[in-house]
Amino acid sequence: MGARRSVFVTRPLPGGALERLQAEHEVEVWPGRLPPPREELMARAPSLEGLLSLLTDRVDAELIEAAPRLRAISNYAVGVDNVDVDAAVARGIPVGNTPDVLTESTADLALALMLGIARRLAEGEAFVRAGEWRTWEPGLMLGHDLHGATVGIVGFGRIGQAVGRRLEGFGCELVTTSRSGGVPLEELLERSDFVTVHCPLTPDTRGLIGAEALRRMKPTAYLVNTARGPIVDTDALTRALHSAEIAGAALDVTDPEPLPGDHPLLQAPNLLVLPHVGSATHDTRGRMADIAVDNLLAGLAGEPMPHQVTPRAP
Ligand code: DGY
Repeated sequence: MGARRSVFVTRPLPGGALERLQAEHEVEVWPGRLPPPREELMARAPSLEGLLSLLTDRVDAELIEAAPRLRAISNYAVGVDNVDVDAAVARGIPVGNTPDVLTESTADLALALMLGIARRLAEGEAFVRAGEWRTWEPGLMLGHDLHGATVGIVGFGRIGQAVGRRLEGFGCELVTTSRSGGVPLEELLERSDFVTVHCPLTPDTRGLIGAEALRRMKPTAYLVNTARGPIVDTDALTRALHSAEIAGAALDVTDPEPLPGDHPLLQAPNLLVLPHVGSATHDTRGRMADIAVDNLLAGLAGEPMPHQVTPRAP
């Protein structure tokens, strides 16, 4: 057995995966539901050898620099936009993520959001619960069909493709754009009845769906985002919803995240918003924990991580 390393896990994880980590290393798990404050992370940095972080933890160059003994970073997410990967590479620290296991759950949620916003599910539920429903009416709560619609998929990687497979069952026409091909974004925006975002957050995709993009969408079209909040310009979306430039938006992710209760976006009409739960099923979150632990154990042992986003040593 190798040396027992000092590991910090920034939140309790579902399932039993952390027990495997605790069997091999000295593990401290931040007990709170909220992320550890910055000063807590910085205070642990000097002795830190392994870090299991969440997408809510900023693992930036300052933190990495303050952790001279750090040997491995395992992020409990497929997205690694919260980690300064370049700073880790510069120090030779491997960074792992949790792809694949969350693809299907996230795709399921994207479909739920499309149906939810277009068929007005949240509105209908609130209406019934408020005791406002008097009788069946021909014109009550009319929405739009997903079946047969043209759906634009922005980012046609694993999750985008899983969404596409589901939409084929709905008889949808798919229009896709990604780094490796598809139609230009402008064309996708102009043709689609639903635009669903599945690209990673990078400097290139930050603000990709801004005022200009929203203007190109049909006034009857819906925007769905299950990727990362900052890919959509929040102020531009708020304006577009208020001015009925688009028919609605369904968001699992927002910028900022979480949205304060008094945020102007929450006052916008035709908005369905969830608290970043794309991968939130018992099975998927448990599998993510397994992979995050496997990545960290491998990194601490000086072996390639099963899912490593940084280049592997030659
Ligand atoms: C991710 O993994 O990047 C999701 O946003 C949360 O599961």
